[in-house]
Amino acid sequence: MSTLEDLEPTPVTLGGVRGGPAGRTLRRDRWWVSPLVTVGVLTSFVAYTVWAMLQNANYYVGASMHRDLISPLYSPCIVGSCVPGSHGTFLVLHWWMITPALFALSVPGGFRMTCYYYRKAYYRGFWRSPPACAVADGHGKYSGESRFPLVLQNVHRYFWILAFVWNVILTIDAVMAFRMPGDGGIGVSVGTLVLCVNAVLLWLYSASCHACRHLCGGHVDQFSKAPLRHRVWKLLTPLNARHMQFAWASLIFVALTDLYVRLVASGVFHDPKLF
Ligand code: FES
Repeated sequence: MSTLEDLEPTPVTLGGVRGGPAGRTLRRDRWWVSPLVTVGVLTSFVAYTVWAMLQNANYYVGASMHRDLISPLYSPCIVGSCVPGSHGTFLVLHWWMITPALFALSVPGGFRMTCYYYRKAYYRGFWRSPPACAVADGHGKYSGESRFPLVLQNVHRYFWILAFVWNVILTIDAVMAFRMPGDGGIGVSVGTLVLCVNAVLLWLYSASCHACRHLCGGHVDQFSKAPLRHRVWKLLTPLNARHMQFAWASLIFVALTDLYVRLVASGVFHDPKLF
């Protein structure tokens, strides 16, 4: 009887020849829907974000409107060009940038770019490498992520740590959104709820991250000897199974939150107070 040790390992050749006529496959289902949706949503999100970044205006609703709402695309707003009132309570750096969103988006941008799930999605959608399981690769060669520049995707775990700090800041923004300067002091408006939902989705996205689960429960030979890590790992595992859903929901909601703050700040409508 052969054992696992007797079996020859399947040779894996990086850089081998792949591919074939574009889209060649025996699949009969609509495999192309998923990469198409990925391209559509990511392209729309990037286009909206770049547009919103370059506006460099209408990202903060302040005391003049009896609110304290800041767009997540511009938070933390700690560069010299931030509008008065939008500064974080932390460090105010005397940097001047074309737009404060450049700094604010550096970490979330890197975090999402290097996310394991998004990598799969955009490698399939944009590079067709391959577009789907059992569909011919769009390229003749495959070198994985073993070479520059894709080897840099390994920095994801460090981006997770930075994103954690960003989540704390955006959660403080959500708490600050309960402030209603000159309008009763504290209350709940639609804007408050929008910023709160945004913060919760960002936490769910970060907590369901594969790197987070590994950080909390990885490198443990025996869970019985690390009961706390085991508990955290058990808590994160069901979230991890829904990482894709949290990735899309949080991405879309960030853009919607910016849009909401933008419309209120530009005077299109007033942020309704609920109580
Ligand atoms: S794997 Fe997606 S955020 Fe870490």
